[in-house]
Amino acid sequence: MILLSPKPTCILFNKPINPFSKSNHPKPHHQNNTTPSSNHHISCKSEYKTERGLQFDVGDTFFRHESATGRDLAVLAAAIHKKANNDKLRVLDAMCGCGIRSLRYLVEADADFVLANDADDFHRSVVLSNLSAKVPRISEDGRGRRWLVTNDDANRVMMECCLRRDYFDFIDIDSFGSDSSFLRSAFEALRFGGLVYVTSTDGYTSGGHRPLHSLSSYGAYICPMPYCNELGLRMLIGGAIREAAVLGYYVTPLFSYYSYHGPVFRVLLRVNRGKLPISRHYNFIRYCSECGNSEAISWDKLGQLNCPCNSNVPGSLVVSGPLWTGPLHSKSYLEEMLNLAEEWGWIGNNIGVDLEKLLKYMIDESDPQLPFGYIKLDEVSSRGKINSPPLRSMLSSLQKNGYTASRSHIESNAIKTNCPMSMCIMIAKELQAC
Ligand SMILES: C[S@@+](CC[C@H](N)C(=O)[O-])C[C@H]1O[C@@H](n2cnc3c(N)ncnc32)[C@H](O)[C@@H]1O
Repeated sequence: MILLSPKPTCILFNKPINPFSKSNHPKPHHQNNTTPSSNHHISCKSEYKTERGLQFDVGDTFFRHESATGRDLAVLAAAIHKKANNDKLRVLDAMCGCGIRSLRYLVEADADFVLANDADDFHRSVVLSNLSAKVPRISEDGRGRRWLVTNDDANRVMMECCLRRDYFDFIDIDSFGSDSSFLRSAFEALRFGGLVYVTSTDGYTSGGHRPLHSLSSYGAYICPMPYCNELGLRMLIGGAIREAAVLGYYVTPLFSYYSYHGPVFRVLLRVNRGKLPISRHYNFIRYCSECGNSEAISWDKLGQLNCPCNSNVPGSLVVSGPLWTGPLHSKSYLEEMLNLAEEWGWIGNNIGVDLEKLLKYMIDESDPQLPFGYIKLDEVSSRGKINSPPLRSMLSSLQKNGYTASRSHIESNAIKTNCPMSMCIMIAKELQAC
């Protein structure tokens, strides 16, 4: 059992030597907002920040202001899940850093209970003071214990929870790099129908520069392709599909978010018992550098790989996978998030313009007619030997011509469309002639 003491938690086994020395992690730049330390905790430095009106100390922990949008999305999704889950929400913040997410899950999503864990016990005092300053550890409203801070390896914590049958509704794993080793234990510690929010910060691998690395982390051989940052999200979802399938579960992405700060790839997954219902969405992706078109290739068609453009240029065909080729988001979930953001005053009346734009772009991207990937307008211009077409005109021309087209939240000068490259070039040439 987890000990409900203010000391670092020691669960069933002996605690290993902590391998998570702060010096192992890249340190983001801290803005100068330092106030003198007023507490007696281990951490000697205090550095106060404010996010959505909540003040907290980041101390000497790893904290990125740029991740605030990823936290906004998580809190909105968690609050919606609570409503749909008979008003119950137990959150496991497996890599909590200074505890800002835990705090926001408690205050904004009104989580009934949050387990805030970070392997680095140097963070403990900061997390404790951040949480206790805003939320009493034991609530007087009948909900009992609202939060607990532990300092152990995330896998160990999640496996311990599973062994005790102490399941969570929402598990947040804000990990570094392409560490996928947490996926399985997260699924084990989750209630059926619960949500897991996973992260990868390995842009090098999703760029196709380390295919053997992506193969070992996510079971996908990733080659360089023009829409590599979308591939990063699909690789992460595909890895989760594989891990879930081992346990007899399937996952569905509710939203997928790429941020160039880092870069960071974040995916919110719903986990259910059973087999992946639409197996055609776990596939390979073919890209032809000759014609610029892409296609999903199912496992049984791997032996017939060629591109409809019949290019005989050696090496023009590039294949990545297996990975998720289905929709990156659930439109209805995102619409609920957008409505909630409005209800909370986070967007609307010229407030929160970036968050509003992001959610609206994601909603547009959720159109089931849209295939994976995006087309950069620079690629259209270089293939057509014309100037880059204006994005808005390109979108409306594509739609007028009967194609589905949207922006991409990942690349500002790119479009998602079911229009083939040759037709995109023709439309862009027509626009230039106008
Ligand atoms: C990206 S930071 C977390 C930032 C925090 N979630 C936020 O939103 O500000 C990752 C954290 O994971 C912790 N960590 C690294 N490996 C871990 C592991 N195996 N188990 C638990 N925590 C770990 C690090 O100490 C670090 O604080």
